Amino acid sequence: MSDPIRFRGPAASDAADVWRLARDSGALDLNSPYAYLLWCTDFATTTVLAEDATDRRVGFVGGYRPPTDPEAAFVWQVAVAADQRGRGLGRRLLDAFLSRPGTRDGRWLTATVTPSNAASLALFRGYADARGVGCDEHERFPAEVFPAEAGVHEPELALRIGPLPPR
Ligand SMILES: CC(C)(COP(=O)(O)OP(=O)(O)OC[C@H]1O[C@@H](n2cnc3c(N)ncnc32)[C@H](O)[C@@H]1OP(=O)(O)O)[C@@H](O)C(=O)NCCC(=O)NCCS
Repeated sequence: MSDPIRFRGPAASDAADVWRLARDSGALDLNSPYAYLLWCTDFATTTVLAEDATDRRVGFVGGYRPPTDPEAAFVWQVAVAADQRGRGLGRRLLDAFLSRPGTRDGRWLTATVTPSNAASLALFRGYADARGVGCDEHERFPAEVFPAEAGVHEPELALRIGPLPPR
């Protein structure tokens, strides 16, 4: 049977669905529709979408190469549609992300995660474990650097996975 999930780079016409995936994720900070348009165009080579057999967008990873850390491929946001979770799609999305033209020479997979996000921590730690590489963790953004008027925000832990083998 052919694989029902396909991975591809995004275009402007995908940005509204990426925004919807982020909105419906139950965990991500929702950015403006315009931010997702930029991600699907200016950052298309470091972003990946997953589609099912009906062409429904069921997951995405948006990322970039930080100018201050050029060997890293940074995951800005990752989400899997609720009805597709727990089947390995998150892991496959990270593989697809690290195979994009803009990330495939990255030596480190980096991200930030809030301490209460068990699914996200399990995704990244499991990814490192499965590849036999380290997952260094430290607090990057303490709670107080977020604007108080925007409501309580947990600190963000930085994860640094690698070094990754050549792809
Ligand atoms: C995080 C997320 C992308 C994971 O996607 P997924 O397709 O369910 O993940 P996978 O099925 O590939 O599972 C990866 C690992 O995480 C574990 N995991 C998944 N959901 C979990 C949960 N709710 N609690 C604990 N562990 C969980 C799996 O058991 C698996 O572990 P393993 O590698 O040891 O086998 C998904 O839960 C999601 O979209 N969450 C909302 C958005 C979000 O929090 N994004 C991350 C912010 S940085």
